[in-house]
Amino acid sequence: MAKTWVDKDTCIACGACYSTCPDVYESDDDGYAFVKLEGGLEGFVEVPEEFLSDAQDAKDGCPTESVRWED
Ligand code: F3S
Repeated sequence: MAKTWVDKDTCIACGACYSTCPDVYESDDDGYAFVKLEGGLEGFVEVPEEFLSDAQDAKDGCPTESVRWED
């Protein structure tokens, strides 16, 4: 089981995460990312199995390590 969250304080709105895994990450009106899953704005939420691979790629691809991850 993995959980994810986006730290908006360090996100630079590069767009990589929601391009890589649009089922989990989404852009706000200014291009900053957030986790679109239920509870994603409040803190870490579990990544559904079917999105795990793409979400992990998104985490690995974030240039500022703002896509946070807990295994
Ligand atoms: Fe921001 Fe990183 Fe996504 S900089 S837009 S959280 S890839």
